Amino acid sequence: MDINSPIRIGVLVSGGGTNLQALIDSQREKILRTGEVSLVLSSSRNAYALIRAQEAGVPSIVAEGSSREDIILQAVREHNIKLLVLAGYIKILSEDFLEQVGIPVINIHPSLLPKYGGKGYYGLRVHEAVLANQESYSGATVHYVDATPDGGEIIAQEQVEVYPDDTPESLQKRIMENVEWKLLPQVIEELAKKIRDEESL
Ligand code: GRF
Repeated sequence: MDINSPIRIGVLVSGGGTNLQALIDSQREKILRTGEVSLVLSSSRNAYALIRAQEAGVPSIVAEGSSREDIILQAVREHNIKLLVLAGYIKILSEDFLEQVGIPVINIHPSLLPKYGGKGYYGLRVHEAVLANQESYSGATVHYVDATPDGGEIIAQEQVEVYPDDTPESLQKRIMENVEWKLLPQVIEELAKKIRDEESL
C-alpha cells in the first residue's frame, strides 16, 4: 500500500451527526489529514448523519437490526477500515464484535469520564445529572471502546465550566462546540499517525 494514502476511518452514527460533520469539516481544514472519513455506518436509516455523509460524498451503510454487527464487520473488511469511531452511536458493541474487528475502536462521550458514564447516561441525561449534582465542571472524553459502556481506556479529556444558569441544553451545546467538535478530530489525527507509523514498521 502507498505510504501516503490516508488511514481509512469508519464512523458509526445513530442520529444528528454533528461530530461526523466536525470530522468532515476538519478534513477540509487539514486538521485531519493523515486519516480520512471513508465510510459512515448508521444504526438507523433515518439518521440525519446519513444526509451529511451523502453531502460530503462519503459512502454510507445502514446497519440495523440483529445482524448489525455482522454488517459492520463485513463493511470494515471490504472498505479496508483501519479505525472505527463511535460518534453519537447509541448501540452497545458486543465483546464478540470487539474481539473480531481487530482495529482500534474509539468513542466520544459528553462528560468527564468515569463520571456520568455507563448505562443510562446518554443525550441530555448526562447533562441533567451534572446539573442536578451541582458540578462546577463538565466536559467530554475520547476513549477506547471495550465491552463496558463508556468504560474503556481514556485517550483525551477536556473540561468546560458549568454556569449557574445552565440548562441541560446550554451545557450540551457548550460541550459540543467548545470540546467535542475540536477534540475528536485532533485525537483521530494523532491515532491515524500512530497507525501509519505502525504500518510502516
Ligand atoms: C454527542 O454528545 C456525543 O458525545 C455523544 O452523542 C452525541 C452525539 O451527537 N456520544 P451527534 O450525533 O454527533 O450530533
